[in-house]
Amino acid sequence: MFESLGVIGFGNIAKAIVTPLLDKTLLEPEQIHCLVKTRESYENIKKNYKYNINIHYINSEDASLVWECPVKILSVKPQQLESVKELNPLPNQNNQILISILAGVSIQKLEKSFPNHFCVRAVTNIPITIGRGITGISYTSSIDKEQKEFIKNIFERSGKVYEFEENYLDIFLALTSSAPAIISLIVEALSDGGLSGGLHKKLSEELVLEMMLGTILLLKEENFSTMDLKNMVTSPAGTTISALRVLEKRSFRSALIESIIAATNRSKQFN
Ligand SMILES: NC(=O)c1ccc[n+]([C@@H]2O[C@H](COP(=O)([O-])OP(=O)(O)OC[C@H]3O[C@@H](n4cnc5c(N)ncnc54)[C@H](OP(=O)(O)O)[C@@H]3O)[C@@H](O)[C@H]2O)c1
Repeated sequence: MFESLGVIGFGNIAKAIVTPLLDKTLLEPEQIHCLVKTRESYENIKKNYKYNINIHYINSEDASLVWECPVKILSVKPQQLESVKELNPLPNQNNQILISILAGVSIQKLEKSFPNHFCVRAVTNIPITIGRGITGISYTSSIDKEQKEFIKNIFERSGKVYEFEENYLDIFLALTSSAPAIISLIVEALSDGGLSGGLHKKLSEELVLEMMLGTILLLKEENFSTMDLKNMVTSPAGTTISALRVLEKRSFRSALIESIIAATNRSKQFN
């Protein structure tokens, strides 16, 4: 695939991207060079990560090996970008690829921070940890077809990939990367509803998850529309319409719509 992969920041998301590449032997552990900030994380990864990759911390002697890799994944928090770019010992190397998974940071800003790199933005989500992720990718205009295929290939190991113009990435992030937290909140709240009705918490949560899985399969696999499904379970003067009335009164749908807009706007602010 390529001779070596540099990973700047080896936290939860970077591990979720890199591990399937190693599981599926697209890369060997010795081809991966990761950079973390602290000695503590370095020790932890050395001791606990299942592959014996090359790991470096920012003050270690051989940290520059990460920067020499022709392809790099940048996976620090957006607020840490400034500190990372100052570490680059090879700011003028040519024709390298930098794939950033930082929320909201534009390709233009990345190219200023990492001159002479082909910069790519990838927005991914937490289900990549179980191979069910969704990744949206946007490329700098100067990148060629072969390089695009090769970048797509990295993320296809852990889920579905969609290619977008960059201005859609903020809404893509809100809907796919932030929304797992919204869904978790809904699961938790519905389970608390069951608890309030006298069910044990664990059973209540199990019922909610099974109900959600079944509902999603009907929508996705059987092509039910959301309206059809809603009408099927909502009878005149019945229990479901009583529940839906409460949600309408409390502006539930509006709250969800606004939450996605808020996450989109926040992503834009990182640029
Ligand atoms: N969490 C999500 O659901 C999600 C989804 C999609 C995308 N993202 C994006 O993924 C990125 C990483 O998120 P995460 O949850 O994986 O973060 P994380 O677990 O906090 O990992 C951050 C990593 O960056 C390292 N780091 C920090 N400053 C550094 C520096 N100056 N030089 C080198 N390494 C440095 C940290 O090292 P130490 O451990 O030593 O501090 C750590 O390994 C974020 O930009 C986020 O927007 C997150």
